[in-house]
Amino acid sequence: MEFSLRGLLKIFESLKKSENSILGIDIGTSAIKVVQLRKEKERAVLETYGEIATGPYANLKVGQAARLSEESVVMALKDLLKEANVKAKTACVAVPLKSSFVTIINLPFSPEKNLSEIIQLEARRYIPVPISEVILDWWILPRAMEKDVAKEGQRETAQVLLVAIHKDTVNIYKDIIAKVNLKVRAYEVESFSMIRACLSRETSPVAVLDIGASTTKLAIVDFGVMKGSYSINYGSQDLTSALSRSLNIDFSRAEEMKREIGFSDLPENKEVVAVLEPVLEYSFSEANKFIREFQKKNQRTIGKVILTGGGSLLKGLVDFAVKKFSLEVELADPFAKVEHPAFLSKALKEVGVNFSTAIGLTFREL
Ligand SMILES: Nc1ncnc2c1ncn2[C@@H]1O[C@H](COP(=O)(O)OP(=O)(O)OP(=O)(O)O)[C@@H](O)[C@H]1O
Ligand SMILES: [Mg+2]
Repeated sequence: MEFSLRGLLKIFESLKKSENSILGIDIGTSAIKVVQLRKEKERAVLETYGEIATGPYANLKVGQAARLSEESVVMALKDLLKEANVKAKTACVAVPLKSSFVTIINLPFSPEKNLSEIIQLEARRYIPVPISEVILDWWILPRAMEKDVAKEGQRETAQVLLVAIHKDTVNIYKDIIAKVNLKVRAYEVESFSMIRACLSRETSPVAVLDIGASTTKLAIVDFGVMKGSYSINYGSQDLTSALSRSLNIDFSRAEEMKREIGFSDLPENKEVVAVLEPVLEYSFSEANKFIREFQKKNQRTIGKVILTGGGSLLKGLVDFAVKKFSLEVELADPFAKVEHPAFLSKALKEVGVNFSTAIGLTFREL
């Protein structure tokens, strides 16, 4: 076999490229999303991205949350990697907030070495399953080290962010990723990735609301640290189901109507809005309760709410959210943090919220 010098250089280039590339994989209940970035000096360059609906792999409709078997996830992910022309060899994978346990605990302050032993012991009191069954991670919160080393009587306390993921969950992901011939660099609870993609350097606490198909996830971030998280068992597919039931139309038609009409203020769309509103009212009031409690407990005022996740694309949702939360509300724009061809900017801004988690995963490695 003969190689020309140019051919060899090309092969070398593509090898070098894929070595510098990292893939973020977000396996959501209604769609799998991937983003591939490359690190070039200090910049993050977008190489490719894509999503695939999971519904059709379980005889369900696009937009419907599906409980896929492991083989079906592998099949869908293979199709997506091919379609998006993914060349990266290494991936970071999101773990659902629902399958993890995240909390902040206060511990007696002691030198870090000691603290890690104390954390291992104390974690047993907070984590609802045997410690041997989870992968445990923790961070000593910087604020606790500096300003907030509170005196509790004679003792000083340190704040520790504790994260546990069930080993069974990780093993399922491990199998899936191995079957699509990728190496896993890290697993991360989806909320942490999402925050990394959606936040800039905000100085007051921010609430990030990720509206997925089956759940709505709230994360409160203060000084860049997730100080609270909450998962609400309602998502955007519940809007579609409500439309389908109330208007007696099939799911696909209801999904279309949801996306086309949303919270329209045109009189002829009153009927649709009347169906959507009570469903959203529920998840937003749950989120609002959590926000108010956080503010009260921590004596901190939330400055704004950032909406993300596919469900946040609902027309008129930002205005609805402003009314509900009485706060500044904005849509996340995670692709803005990534270098990309100018002609893609508009399209990326429009679909960005779908990819927050996948992008945030790649940022972790860049
Ligand atoms: N333009 C749009 N208008 C309204 N809703 C939309 C629009 N585009 C997508 N959606 C909804 O967004 C949802 C999918 O969002 P996303 O991909 O964030 O969910 P997921 O990650 O699969 O779900 P989960 O996080 O709950 O597991 C679907 O319910 C879909 O109907
Ligand atoms: Mg999701």
